[in-house]
Amino acid sequence: MNNLDPLAPRPVRESQSEMAEIVLPNDANPLGALLGGRLMHWIDLAGAMAAHRHARTYVVTASVDHIDFLVPVHVGSLVILRSSVNRVFRTSMEVGVKVWVENYIQDKRQHVASAHLTFVAVDGKGGRVPVCQVIPENEEQQRRFEDAGRRREIRHTELERRQKTTR
Ligand SMILES: CC(C)(COP(=O)(O)OP(=O)(O)OC[C@H]1O[C@@H](n2cnc3c(N)ncnc32)[C@H](O)[C@@H]1OP(=O)(O)O)[C@@H](O)C(=O)NCCC(=O)NCCS
Repeated sequence: MNNLDPLAPRPVRESQSEMAEIVLPNDANPLGALLGGRLMHWIDLAGAMAAHRHARTYVVTASVDHIDFLVPVHVGSLVILRSSVNRVFRTSMEVGVKVWVENYIQDKRQHVASAHLTFVAVDGKGGRVPVCQVIPENEEQQRRFEDAGRRREIRHTELERRQKTTR
């Protein structure tokens, strides 16, 4: 935390963030299940926390990859979101967010969703700025780092394809 060089590489652990939310009636549909859009909002916030912690600049969400909602989450549940930076490219970085629901009465935890988001670092005027590299420190972080490179290629191919078809 004390290194003053903004482009000095930082370990993944410095970006790791956790957010917790209790599902309230206003977050749910008429059947009392958490709205997908509310969960996507929390995923965006949890992802932005990790991106901010790593880049120490303003960030904007450039993209969110595919999200599956694996189990319904009910009013009163405790939702936990954990995020960290998987890989930095130049001005963009991929952040992974994993979501669980905790049933504190039954002492159970279930995986609800995972998502990969790309954030772009910007200055106060919205201009893009380079981000310091991230250092994976264990096998899991190394796997995510490598997978993030493959996902970036897929994203770029898909972006180019869409740009061609919407011209
Ligand atoms: C994201 C944004 C800054 C990218 O601008 P752009 O002019 O397309 O930028 P560039 O082509 O120069 O790319 C800048 C970086 O963004 C990445 N990027 C751009 N579009 C992307 C996308 N759809 N998915 C993932 N990464 C993307 C590029 O790969 C590049 O990364 P790199 O510097 O690490 O190589 C711009 O589209 C924007 O401001 N979008 C609105 C963001 C916003 O308001 N988000 C909130 C939700 S509405």
